[in-house]
Parts: sequence; C-alpha cells; structure tokens
Amino acid sequence: MTMDLIRTVCLMLCAFTVNSIANELKDRALKLMAETPLIDGHNDLPWQLRNKFNNQLNETNLYTLNSTHTNIPKIKAGHLSAQFWAAYVPCDTQYKDAVRQTLEQIDVIHRMCQKYPEVFTFAASSQDIEDAFKQNKTACLIGVEGGHSIDSSLGTLRLMYQLGVRYLTLTHSCNTPWVDNWLVDTDSETAVHDGLSEFGKQVVFEMNRIGMLVDLAHVSEKVMKQVLEISKAPIIFSHSSAYSICPHKRNVPDDVLREVKNKNGIVMINFYNDYVTCQKAANLSHVADHFDHIKKVAGSSIIGFGGDYDGVPRVPDGLEDVSKYPDLVIELLRRGWTDDEIKDALGRNLLRVFREVERVRDSLNGVTPDDVPIPLKEVQNPCRTNYGYPDTQSSACTPSLYPLVLALTLLTKILV
Ligand SMILES: *[C@@H]1O[C@H](CO)[C@@H](O)[C@H](O)[C@H]1NC(C)=O
Ligand SMILES: *[C@@H]1O[C@H](CO)[C@@H](O)[C@H](O)[C@H]1NC(C)=O
Ligand SMILES: *[C@@H]1O[C@H](CO)[C@@H](O)[C@H](O)[C@H]1NC(C)=O
Ligand SMILES: *[C@@H]1O[C@H](CO)[C@@H](O)[C@H](O)[C@H]1NC(C)=O
Ligand SMILES: [Zn+2]
Repeated sequence: MTMDLIRTVCLMLCAFTVNSIANELKDRALKLMAETPLIDGHNDLPWQLRNKFNNQLNETNLYTLNSTHTNIPKIKAGHLSAQFWAAYVPCDTQYKDAVRQTLEQIDVIHRMCQKYPEVFTFAASSQDIEDAFKQNKTACLIGVEGGHSIDSSLGTLRLMYQLGVRYLTLTHSCNTPWVDNWLVDTDSETAVHDGLSEFGKQVVFEMNRIGMLVDLAHVSEKVMKQVLEISKAPIIFSHSSAYSICPHKRNVPDDVLREVKNKNGIVMINFYNDYVTCQKAANLSHVADHFDHIKKVAGSSIIGFGGDYDGVPRVPDGLEDVSKYPDLVIELLRRGWTDDEIKDALGRNLLRVFREVERVRDSLNGVTPDDVPIPLKEVQNPCRTNYGYPDTQSSACTPSLYPLVLALTLLTKILV
C-alpha cells in the first residue's frame, strides 16, 4: 500500500517535471523569437501562386489558403519575421521567356505584400528587416533563384536589384552560358565552364558592387569554391544542408562549410526530406542533426534557416509547415544550444552578412557599372538577336531547332 502510494506520487512528480521542462523550453524559445527576428532564406509560395492561380491574387486569400505550407495564420504561429520569397522560374524558360516570367514573379511578390499591409512590409536592406520586426510585421524580401533569369545580361541584373531583388542564386538546376550547376557533380549533366566563366566572374563582381547577395545553393562544388575565393563580400547558401549528414550534391561539404566560416558567410539549412535524410522520410530531429553538425564543423555563426517551404513535395514530420519553426528552436534548446547560438541562427547571422554586403557595396561606390557584355559566341542562340555586336546578323527564332544547336555547341565544347 505504502509502496504503491510512493510509486504513484513519484510518477506524478516525474510527469510534472517532464511537463515543466517542456514548458520551460517552450517559453525560452518564444522569448528568444520575440527578441530576435526569424529570417528564412527561401520560400516558394510565389511559385505556388503562379501554379494554382496564374498569379491572380483575387482568386485566393492568404488567410484561408490551406493547400500550401505557407499562409498568414501559419506565418504568425511560426513567428516568421522575414522571408526571402523566391522569384523562381523553371529552367525550361531559359533562352525563351525567363526574364518576363521572372519579372512576373517579382511583381506577384510585391503585390502579395501590398495586399496584406497589416501583415507584410517590403524590405530591401538589413535595416528594413529590423524596422519590420519592431513593427511586428513580416518583412518581404526577394531572391531570384537561378542565373538563367538574367539571360546573361548585367543590365538585367542591375534592374532586378532596382526592383528590390536582394539575392541571386547563381544557378537553378541547369547550366547557364556562364556558370555550372550542381547537376554536373552527378552523372546527369556535363560541366561546361569548369565552374564560372570569365563573364561569370563579372556577374559576381557586379553583384558585389551593387549590393546583391551571392547565393550558392544549387551551384556545382567548383563554383562554391571559386566564388568563396573571389567574392569581395560574404556569400549565402539560401537553402542547403550538410553533405556529411546526407551526401546529396545539393548539400554543402565540410571543407566548404569551413570556407564559409572564413568568409563570414551563412548556410541557411534546407528542410527538404531528400536533402535531410537522403530518403523520402524525415523528422524534426533529423533537421536538428544538420544544425548540430554545421555547428560542430564551422560554428553557430554560419547557421540560418532556409526551409524551402512550398518548393518541395516532402517536409519532415514535426516541421509540416511554416508554423512549426518554434518546435525546431525548442529542439535545439533541448540539445544544449545557448541563447546566443539560437539568436545567431534565427536572424543575427543573416543580418551580419547582409550588413557586410551593404558595406562592401558602399565601399565600391566609386566603381562604375560593368558594361562589358558577354561574348556573343558564348551566348548565341536562335532566339536571341545580336544587336550591338559588330558584323553579325540575327537569325530567325526557331526553337524547334534549338535543342540540336545546343547539342552541337556542347559537342564542339567537349571536342575542343
Ligand atoms: C479577379 O479579378 C478579375 C479581373 O478584375 C475578375 O474578372 C475576376 O472575376 C476576379 N475574381 C474573383 C474571384 O474575384
Ligand atoms: C481548405 O479550404 C477549402 C476552401 O476554402 C475548404 O473547403 C476546406 O474545408 C479547407 N480544408 C481544411 C482542412 O481546412
Ligand atoms: C508588437 O507585439 C508585441 C507583443 O504582441 C506588443 O507588445 C507590441 O506592442 C507590438 N508592437 C507594435 C509596434 O505593434
Ligand atoms: C525521428 O526518427 C528517428 C528514427 O529515424 C527517431 O529515432 C527519432 O526519435 C525521431 N524523432 C522524432 C522527434 O520523432
Ligand atoms: Zn531551390
């Protein structure tokens, strides 16, 4: 009888203790998130808006939309303070209407943020992110995902900056006429430039000059290393995880993580199951393993969040949508992360990188815009006119022939 009583009391105390520890961690997580903005590096809701509504915002309501990872109630519950929305268009638009489609994605992001001014505010600087946070608004930033979106044009790059774009991912999952993508590290594509071409280096320097963050998610490992060497400003990986934990070529190898640390950059960790576990299934603990690993290899000062919500078909159990970020913060606290480490990962690291990119821009104030175009032979295709290049004639745009031309060009490159 007495033993039973003691056991019952013990069990109750135990349950009470477990409960109160859980509550304590939750309170601590929410306090940290109230003090520091959570800045996420990559969200594809704009692509969902094109897919589902052809960018017609009056066909939907972001308070009630429930077929996406992202909506306003979920943003509020997740304490998402700043989001780099992806202005993404697929690689099959390359050499066709990539620039128009990208402009339309930039436009839909602006319109989305303007339609809900009680929730969103547009942000184009590190200071704007901090100001939005003070006003309890979610800062809307724009990242263009893929160099194909600038159609090998520095003028287009500069104008996208003027339209509010603050990062360019150098590639999506295709090579461009000036840079190789991650697929060249697999068997499915052949390297064309051995990293960046000379024009590719011009693109990076011009991004440094205008204050556009250079995003190395999706590029080949060679490009990662080259850019880490030549960029005048810190770089970002807007949505990539750790290669040592899941050896997928979209992830970042340990030696590159150390270079990111040397360069004061950031890796914003992707939650896509296939990059987290290299399998179809994953859960929140597996994502936390990536946080722990990168911290161990390069320190918490290079870590950020880059969920890739609404850009991927599978996300981990426990991180089903953007409302779940606090649960990940709780898990990191449970694993012994300090308050400072958490605040760095939430937003302070990205703010540091952004400020430094702005400082480099300001320091290059006297440098004139680069107006040297890409050499014609590197970019010639039937759907591009040649105006401006001397002694050339433009041919008709015959897309049906284009794959053949591309194949011949590639073949020539391989043979030479
Ligand atoms: C959205 O706007 C268009 C153009 O004004 C209109 O034709 C359409 O009916 C609207 N749709 C809804 C759901 O209000
Ligand atoms: C999602 O929204 C649709 C349309 O508003 C509604 O019919 C449906 O019941 C909602 N589903 C859930 C799970 O809330
Ligand atoms: C922001 O929200 C917090 C907590 O809900 C509140 O205390 C504060 O007054 C709000 N600030 C503004 C500027 O609305
Ligand atoms: C995640 O899955 C692993 C098994 O792969 C398991 O050990 C772990 O407890 C799970 N974590 C959560 C939070 O469900
Ligand atoms: Zn991506």
